[in-house]
Amino acid sequence: MTETPLLDTPELAGRRVLLGLTGGIACYKAAELCRLLVRSGAQVRVAMTHAACRFITPLTMQALCGQPVFTSQWDARPHNHMAHIELGREAELILVAPASADFIAQLAGGRADELLALLCLARPDGVPLLLAPAMNRQMWQHPATQRNVHQVSADGASVLGVASGAQACGEVGEGRMLAPEQLLQCVTAALAPKSLAGLRVLISAGPTFEAIDPVRGITNLSSGKMGFAMARAAFEAGAQVQLVAGPVHVATPYGVQRTDVTSALQMHAAVMEYATQADIFIATAAVADWRPAEKAAQKIKKDGSGDTPALHFVENPDILADVALSPRAVAGQLFCVGFAAESENLLEYAAAKRQRKGVPLLAANIGAATFGRDDNALLLVDESGTQQLPRASKRVLAQRLIAEIARRLPGAAAA
Ligand code: CTP
Repeated sequence: MTETPLLDTPELAGRRVLLGLTGGIACYKAAELCRLLVRSGAQVRVAMTHAACRFITPLTMQALCGQPVFTSQWDARPHNHMAHIELGREAELILVAPASADFIAQLAGGRADELLALLCLARPDGVPLLLAPAMNRQMWQHPATQRNVHQVSADGASVLGVASGAQACGEVGEGRMLAPEQLLQCVTAALAPKSLAGLRVLISAGPTFEAIDPVRGITNLSSGKMGFAMARAAFEAGAQVQLVAGPVHVATPYGVQRTDVTSALQMHAAVMEYATQADIFIATAAVADWRPAEKAAQKIKKDGSGDTPALHFVENPDILADVALSPRAVAGQLFCVGFAAESENLLEYAAAKRQRKGVPLLAANIGAATFGRDDNALLLVDESGTQQLPRASKRVLAQRLIAEIARRLPGAAAA
């Protein structure tokens, strides 16, 4: 029976991934990674070193990827009888997870004692090589390992992680392999079109929280999901991504820098500072329009009279409008994108909002109740008219919107 492909990473459908395993206890996580890749639609081939076969059997990996597993360079099954050439030729990407200290040392020295190292060495130009190291923290910190990691990176491999935490040996520190979900994100990123290569993208996301007193405040129902999906898609498109997030419960996408803020004023300050270095600003945050004029120093108590406290509000700064007026934006070096949540007259209000905020592109949510949902539909409004991005998961919608932004950047080739 085949599993349903994961719908939020359809871009891996049919992509040919070679997953390499070397010796390490993290091999058990490679089994889960293999499953995630297959569920995402990728065609996964597995090559294992002999050490890896001591931790997990080829049979397990074969069952998970649904294809024969390769462990020897003398294996004559590939059609030209040269496993080390053929498997690399077939692959669009090679991911070695876990990559042991010894394996990284082999690659750094250009040695190829076993099939997997041969494959990495003989891979055609343009096939990305991702390495997910996994080892004891002392091994990771050893100058020899660090030297080798530096060398393989200089030779073009991408070294993923490492993560820090409790290790199988009982120690705590750096050297853990990234989680399978994070490695899946890395594969997706490596295979995605690089429409924002080298650009710096700043994204505001989530709600803001405006304090009334030390224990109370006003906020809204924004989950941050769309902004975080935009951050992930921008990173995958090759951008350097800075996220400024209000209070949310969403995991930071791999490769994204995140700054947490609480109030609109804090978000304004952080965004204005990062905007001096950005090429694109995407305002997905649901910024509170007003904040209490004063925050009470102590919790406001009931006085027993039945009277309710009178709250006075002042307007928060409009972050997007201020960024659109900043010198980089005015000089055409910072492309600003707004979002809009409207409950009625979508087109009319969205077009007016785009003008008022002074931004070239505005993405209006189609349908009111998008907060917290995993899907959305957008109406894009720019100076030449409107365009719909039909309902899809926020993940897919974010990828489409990033492509639309890339297409509209000054200097982008006409689509
Ligand atoms: N925005 C912002 N700072 C604010 C208010 C909004 O940066 N203080 C940004 C949002 O991130 C979004 C866009 O402006 O990209 C539009 O936000 P929205 O809440 O739809 O509009 P408002 O400007 O608040 O106007 P209104 O509430 O009148 O619809």
